[in-house]
Amino acid sequence: MTSAQVLPALRGLWATDKGLPRLVKTDAPAPVITLPETCTDVVATLRESLPADTRCVTIDTLGTYRAVYSDGTGRVAGKIAMVTGAAQGFGLEIATDLAKQGAWVALADINVSGVQAAAERINAACGSEVAVGVAVNVADAESLKSALETVTATFGGLDIFVSNAGVLRAGSVKTLSVKDLDFVTNVNYKGYFLAVQAVAPILALQHQACPDRWFDIVQINSKSGLVGSNKNGAYAGSKFGGIGLTQSFALELVTDGIKVNSICPGNFYDGPLWSDPEKGLFRQYLDSGKVPGAKTFADVKAFYESKVPMHRGCTTPDVMRALYYLVEQVYETGQAIPVTGGQVMLS
Ligand SMILES: NC(=O)c1ccc[n+]([C@@H]2O[C@H](COP(=O)([O-])OP(=O)(O)OC[C@H]3O[C@@H](n4cnc5c(N)ncnc54)[C@H](O)[C@@H]3O)[C@@H](O)[C@H]2O)c1
Repeated sequence: MTSAQVLPALRGLWATDKGLPRLVKTDAPAPVITLPETCTDVVATLRESLPADTRCVTIDTLGTYRAVYSDGTGRVAGKIAMVTGAAQGFGLEIATDLAKQGAWVALADINVSGVQAAAERINAACGSEVAVGVAVNVADAESLKSALETVTATFGGLDIFVSNAGVLRAGSVKTLSVKDLDFVTNVNYKGYFLAVQAVAPILALQHQACPDRWFDIVQINSKSGLVGSNKNGAYAGSKFGGIGLTQSFALELVTDGIKVNSICPGNFYDGPLWSDPEKGLFRQYLDSGKVPGAKTFADVKAFYESKVPMHRGCTTPDVMRALYYLVEQVYETGQAIPVTGGQVMLS
């Protein structure tokens, strides 16, 4: 059996009033538990076999793991988080903030060197090994499976999954290529579906082992998931679809102790998607003449900021307030929360 099929159950069974522990691999001698090759109820089997007086066991096929409980005081102290698309932009800043607030964090991205370097920077800043960089292509089920095997082998399980990886190819419905449509749909829509398909069994196993605990899936959606976006239909459609998935997953996964919600940020001008000097949207919109009369990046930015009642773009701290609200709120699921400075209002 794999780490993802066993360790979350172990972690759940070892929950105390300090929460669920992180599991750390060790060479220390420990009681051995042998799981049958076809084990239909891992939680029940482990519950029967776990010695009461130790928080360190050897699972025959996986190695020896001990429980580590957090003494942190941050808003997500002791929780294990995974953020996709974490090599740059929102994902990187979300993962960094979660680590600052006491979480153990897996940064996952198709840009492997990017997340590995980011995890090293976070570890250096925190002074301990709280972060790990993991390769993933969210549009590929096998890649997700392998990434989650790494995350569970490293930390033991998962409390908060942030589905953030997303891509944009703007263009008219009259001319956008099928290739660009597929690219956007595969990452933003199918990638979210596949990621939840891979993550949900892990969270469900923890809930089965520890029924009074709830776990979180948070999708970083967009204001374009709530209102249409001119000449940007592939992106907006993928994000609207994402909210349909969030609502449907929320209905289904509530019995597994999993809350599923989306956050819908406004434009994040400080991130590379907009501000990259060569490929960013400021450059693209300036060069294509999309903003009438604009001569500089500042002109393009001012045009878009003028559409926001609060006259500024969205920042990661704005998104984090919504994310911590969703994690701390025990009586909400299936929501899509706008974080748009008043640009999009729910009806
Ligand atoms: N930037 C904005 O203005 C804005 C506004 C609202 C919502 N969003 C949403 O926020 C999320 C992050 O946006 P951003 O601006 O930080 O984007 P970004 O382009 O700066 O970063 C996206 C990250 O996702 C990674 N990625 C792309 N395809 C992937 C795949 N198949 N598997 C794994 N990782 C992959 C990239 O390597 C990159 O590190 C997206 O879902 C986006 O739709 C962005």
